[in-house]
Amino acid sequence: MKSSTLVASILGLFALTSLSAADDSPVDFVKEIKPILADRCVECHNSETILGELNLQNREHAFQKRKAGPAIVPGSPEKSMLYLALTLPPKDKKAMPATGHRIPKDEVNTIRQWIKEGAKWPEGKDGAIAVTHPKP
Ligand code: HEC
Repeated sequence: MKSSTLVASILGLFALTSLSAADDSPVDFVKEIKPILADRCVECHNSETILGELNLQNREHAFQKRKAGPAIVPGSPEKSMLYLALTLPPKDKKAMPATGHRIPKDEVNTIRQWIKEGAKWPEGKDGAIAVTHPKP
C-alpha cells in the first residue's frame, strides 16, 4: 500500500468514527435539555404557576396526566406537545415559549431527538429544575 493511500484510509476512518459518534450519542438531559427548560420554560411551568396544566420542574410532574393529554410521549415527538408547541407559528396561542424569543432550531431538534430516544429524564437532583426567574 502506498503511504498516501494509507494516510487517506486512516483519515477516512477517523472521519467515519467521529461522524458516527456524533450521530449515536444519545441526548444528555442534564447537559442539553435541562438548561433549555430552566432558562425558557419553568418560569411559567412550575408548581406555583402551572400554566397549560404543566409543571416542568421534575420528571414526575412533567409526565403527570393532563386533561389535554400527555405533554411528552416518549419515542413520539410528533405526539408530544412539548415538542409540537415549539414548532407552531409564533402567532398560535399554543406556540412556546409564550413570551420572549423563540427557541433556536438546533435546540428544538435536540428536544425532538431527546423525545425520540425515550425522553429520559433522571429522578432526583439531576432531574430537578429550580425556578430561576420567578414571577413577581
Ligand atoms: C410566559 C409564560 C410561558 C413560558 C415562558 C412557556 N410557556 Fe408553555 N404555556 C404557557 C401558557 C399560558 C400555556 C397554556 C396555553 C393554552 O393552552 O392556551 C402553556 C402551555 C404549554 C403546553 C401545553 C399545550 C397543550 O395544549 O397541551 C406545553 C407543552 C408548553 N406550554 C411547553 C412549554 C415549553 C417547552 C416552554 C419552554 C420552551 C414553555 N412552554 C414556556 C405559558 C408559558
